[in-house]
Amino acid sequence: MHPPSSSRAFAHTPVLVERVVELFSTVPAGWIVDATLGGGGHAAAMLEARPDCRVIGIDQDDWAITAAGERLAPFGERAVVRRARFDRIAEVVAEVIDDTNSDQGVSGVLFDLGVSSPQLDEGERGFSYRHDGPLDMRMDRSRRRSAADVVNRSAAAELAATIRRYSDERYATRIANAIVAARPLRSTGELAKVVADAVPAPARRLGHPARRTFQAIRIAVNDELEILADSLDQAIDLLLPGGRCIAMSYHSGEDRIVKERFRHAVTGGCECPPGLPCRCGATPKASFVRRRSQQASPAEVEANPRAESVRLRVVEAIDHEAADRPEERA
Ligand SMILES: C[S@@+](CC[C@H](N)C(=O)[O-])C[C@H]1O[C@@H](n2cnc3c(N)ncnc32)[C@H](O)[C@@H]1O
Repeated sequence: MHPPSSSRAFAHTPVLVERVVELFSTVPAGWIVDATLGGGGHAAAMLEARPDCRVIGIDQDDWAITAAGERLAPFGERAVVRRARFDRIAEVVAEVIDDTNSDQGVSGVLFDLGVSSPQLDEGERGFSYRHDGPLDMRMDRSRRRSAADVVNRSAAAELAATIRRYSDERYATRIANAIVAARPLRSTGELAKVVADAVPAPARRLGHPARRTFQAIRIAVNDELEILADSLDQAIDLLLPGGRCIAMSYHSGEDRIVKERFRHAVTGGCECPPGLPCRCGATPKASFVRRRSQQASPAEVEANPRAESVRLRVVEAIDHEAADRPEERA
């Protein structure tokens, strides 16, 4: 059974939407790439706020693409939607610019990482410990490896390493051994129960005991962290001077990568000792709009609980030519 394909069923409240719109309010006219389109909530808000911009929306999930396509249809040619993984961002942007004979460049890129509420809520997709369904968790359902493969085919040590690496789960070894002993597991309900039973009773009081394990398996199934650093680098390289890249992450593994790649863009990869002039000739590509990550306010979290764990980071592409013009240096 396939999930419903109507945007009415794809209810996802975009996180920090006003902040995102405000951060893109200064970027030059051009294309804003929404690399994680979901239901198109951020994309619609950006299209409304910036009539001089167009949006390229990318998502690897066919359901999201259908829903966002319907939602963005009223914007006509200002919204172009493509199903792809965001590690193909540079290629997709080049194709769209070519297909539309556009002479505009990229003024912004947004990454709103992870999964959407409808993906989690649809048991059939197999992402959630709260809804029983098949062990799937693939955002892109044309890919071969699903959660069932990770859970039923990995050796215990490999499974424990995956759970630990992608979720910092303290009881990763106990959980992995319990999963291996209970195999084959066929449903999210079975997996959630095996994990919950493997966790010591006091730890079961700290939120749902299977939350971290489900997150780790989802990240492994979708190669979420493996492709993130390169995708962020590609996004920053695409930006026009003054263009901005915003990344919103929802767990520490994602945020560490965003922080590191944004810092790399800001330093140009310079590794000269701090406090001394740079001698390695590194050229910064971007500057921090804010050095620290931003979080949601209590009011935002109350209105949209998904915002609770968000960390938003943003960098702006440097205009090297302006910095070289004498009048701009004065
Ligand atoms: C948090 S939701 C985005 C919600 C969206 N901002 C909105 O307003 O509805 C994340 C979306 O990114 C997609 N996604 C996650 N990783 C991806 C990747 N590597 N490539 C393409 N899409 C991805 C997911 O399928 C999901 O639809």
